[in-house]
Amino acid sequence: MSRVTLQEIFQHPITQKYVGRSGMAHAVAVAYHAFKFAKLYGVHPDLACKAAFLHDIGHYTWYRNGHWDYELYKQNDIHAIKGAERAHKLLIRLGEHPAAAKQISLAVLFHTDSFLPDNSIEREALQQVVALADEADEEPGGGHHYKEIAPEEAESLLVELDRMIEKSAGQYQLAVTAGS
Ligand SMILES: [Fe+2]
Repeated sequence: MSRVTLQEIFQHPITQKYVGRSGMAHAVAVAYHAFKFAKLYGVHPDLACKAAFLHDIGHYTWYRNGHWDYELYKQNDIHAIKGAERAHKLLIRLGEHPAAAKQISLAVLFHTDSFLPDNSIEREALQQVVALADEADEEPGGGHHYKEIAPEEAESLLVELDRMIEKSAGQYQLAVTAGS
């Protein structure tokens, strides 16, 4: 089974619509941070980078006057829950292995505790990598969602990251595909 690439994920209209809305520049930056943290934590960079790239795909509109209302968002947000489902559906559609899709989806779900009454999440390594990667690119007041990137630049950065993942993939056991 050939690997579903970040480029394929990027090109899908669902990604363009929802990741485009929450910030493509942020998504690409977090995917790169995830590659770095994945090495540190010994998790598979393919899973980490996909989850990181898709972590905010569940964002939806708390717009006021064409801009995000950050306070309203903070109160009512469940983007991690929506994102976990959206990422899962997209990955399955693209042909991702169901076990990988599940792990990626759970990492999207647990990248933040903003939907929980307390911060009681105990993260597994992959989930921790995605949370750290997101934090590494965060700016006060949600500024990271507004950074801009040209579509061609985003795509070529992801193609490069695909290469990096494929190059290092041999060092990792993709546990989710074992025995399937
Ligand atoms: Fe984020």
